[in-house]
Amino acid sequence: MTATTSDIDKAAGVLRAGGLVALPTETVYGLGANAEDPAAVSRIFQAKGRPPSHPLIVHIGGAEHLDDWVQDVPATARLLAEHFWPGPLTLVLRRGPRVPLEATGGLETVAVRVPDHPVALALLAAFGGGVTAPSANRFGSVSPTTADDVRAELGDAVDFVLDGGPCEVGVESTIVDATSDLPTVLRPGGVTREDLEAVLGHPLAVPATSTVRVPGQHPSHYAPRARVVLVEPEKLVIEAEAAQKLGQQVGVLLSPPFAGTPVKAHAVVEVPASLAGYARGLYGFLRALDQRGCDLIVASLPVEEGLGLAIANRLRRAAGPRSIV
Ligand code: TXA
Ligand code: MG
Repeated sequence: MTATTSDIDKAAGVLRAGGLVALPTETVYGLGANAEDPAAVSRIFQAKGRPPSHPLIVHIGGAEHLDDWVQDVPATARLLAEHFWPGPLTLVLRRGPRVPLEATGGLETVAVRVPDHPVALALLAAFGGGVTAPSANRFGSVSPTTADDVRAELGDAVDFVLDGGPCEVGVESTIVDATSDLPTVLRPGGVTREDLEAVLGHPLAVPATSTVRVPGQHPSHYAPRARVVLVEPEKLVIEAEAAQKLGQQVGVLLSPPFAGTPVKAHAVVEVPASLAGYARGLYGFLRALDQRGCDLIVASLPVEEGLGLAIANRLRRAAGPRSIV
C-alpha cells in the first residue's frame, strides 16, 4: 500500500522528533534521519550495525537546495545536478557547515542527491530539511527494494516505514566525486557512465585519478546469506549442476542466452533480458534464493556496459570475501 498524505506527515513528525523513517526511492529503500540531528544520525549506524566511519548520503528536495548543504560547487557539478536530479546520481562535494561530521564519517566532503520518487519528494517537502539515509539493510547485506524487505531487515529498529511500492531502478545511485571539474565515478549505479559522458561532452576520468577516500566500499557488500560464486556464462549450467550433485542447495541466476535451459539445481531464477529489468530485479532474486534455502548461488556477469556495470559491481561484491566486514 502506497503511503498516504497522513503517512507522509507522520513520517515528517518522526524525523523532527529524532526518529528513523524508512523511505522509498527510485533506487532502493533508505533508512532516513534528520541530517542535522547528530543523535538521530547515530541511531542509523546502530540500527544497521554499520561502522560510524562509513559516510551517508544526504537526500534533499531539489537541486535549488544544493548550496544549503555544500560549498565550492564546481560548474561541472552544477551541470550534472541540473541534468540528472531528481535521479539516481549522488554528488560528493565539500561539506557545508549544516552537515554534521556524524553524517560524513568525519570527512570534509558530503554525498548529496535528490531522489526521484514521489513519496521521497513528498517527505522531503513536508519535512523541509535534509534526510541522511543509507540503504535500509543490515550492514553488508542485500539492499531492500520493497517495504516488506525493509521490515524483514530492520524490524523494530525503524520507527516508521513509508511504503512506495517496489523500486523502479533496483540498484543504488551512481556516486560521482564532483569536487573538481574532472569528475570521477566512485560507485557505478542507476545513471550510466554513457549518460554522464553524453552530458559532460567528454569521457570520464578513470577512477584511479580520484583522491577522495571512499570508506564503506568493502569487498563484501550487497551479500545474501548464501555464498555467491561467479562463473563464465558458458560454464554456468555445468558448474551449478556439479555443485548440486555434490549435495549443495544451489540457486542459479540464469542469464539471457541460456534462458529456458533446464538446470538440475535447487532453484532457478531466469534473469530478464533487459539490463533495466535485471537491475530492478537483482536484489529481489538474491533474497528469493535465500528464502528458498539455497546455500550457494551461481551467477555470471552481464556485459559491463550501461546498467551492466552496476549489476556486475554488485554481483562481484556479493561474491566477495566474507571475512572483511
Ligand atoms: O541509491 C542510493 O544511493 C541509496 C538510496 C537510499 O539513496 N543509498 C545508498 O546509501 O546506497 P549507502 O549508505 O548504502 O551507500 C552510500 C555510499 C557509502 O557507502 C560511501 O561509499 C559513499 O556512499 N559515500 C557517502 N559519502 C561519501 C563521501 N563523502 N565521500 C565518498 N564516498 C561517500
Ligand atoms: Mg548500502
